[in-house]
Amino acid sequence: MRVDVVFTPAAVIPAALAGSTALVIDVLRASTSMVTALANGCQALVPVAEVEEARRRVADLPGALLAGERGGDPPEGFDLGNSPLEFTRERVGGRTIVFTTSNGTRALIAARPATSVGVASFANLSAAADWAIGQGRSIVLVCAGELGGRSVEDETCAGLLVDRMLRLEAGAIAGPTAAEAADAGRRYAKDVARLGHDSPHARRLASRGRGPDVAACLTLDGFALVPIYRAEIDKVVSPYR
Ligand code: MLT
Repeated sequence: MRVDVVFTPAAVIPAALAGSTALVIDVLRASTSMVTALANGCQALVPVAEVEEARRRVADLPGALLAGERGGDPPEGFDLGNSPLEFTRERVGGRTIVFTTSNGTRALIAARPATSVGVASFANLSAAADWAIGQGRSIVLVCAGELGGRSVEDETCAGLLVDRMLRLEAGAIAGPTAAEAADAGRRYAKDVARLGHDSPHARRLASRGRGPDVAACLTLDGFALVPIYRAEIDKVVSPYR
């Protein structure tokens, strides 16, 4: 079983995902928000690339909520932003959410050609590694990055996933990109909270009053749930449904 990492959605080669398991990582904040929403009883998330498309989709789904961000804030008329702390049981329990973010939902859509697609973050790191290994196929970790570039928090999360996978699965082999991510992971393994200072996106969020979001996104293994993107119904759902 081979493990590779793709550092930005633009670097995804669709044909290279065929027959593999993909884990999509957007630590700050889309992956963490999706994990939190489903853990709090959200029925499903519909990932959408563009704001206008999200507005159209929600109009066809009575009772659905519109959530996401551009520039870190909810676009006009949205019910929720992209703070994992907003996705409480009271707000999202039993609801479908049409979700669009700057990078995370685009990375999910880029991962569609994989045979199975899950969502990973620090918040569900161990569960995500276990789930991906359990699929029994080669694994590609797709980092959402930041506005087309790479992001240290996604690469660190990918690296910690690689480390765990290599420990869990004796036959797993890290490709060169996975080895590179594992190096990044090791730098923060003992203290991922340090990314709150070292990640430009974390600093930007904190400077805009989103420090509590950053703290939530940099907390390891608060959840044991892996959101699954079921491309055939175009929804991200809990594996327990
Ligand atoms: C994204 O998808 O780009 C992020 O989740 C942005 C954010 O922090 O809201």
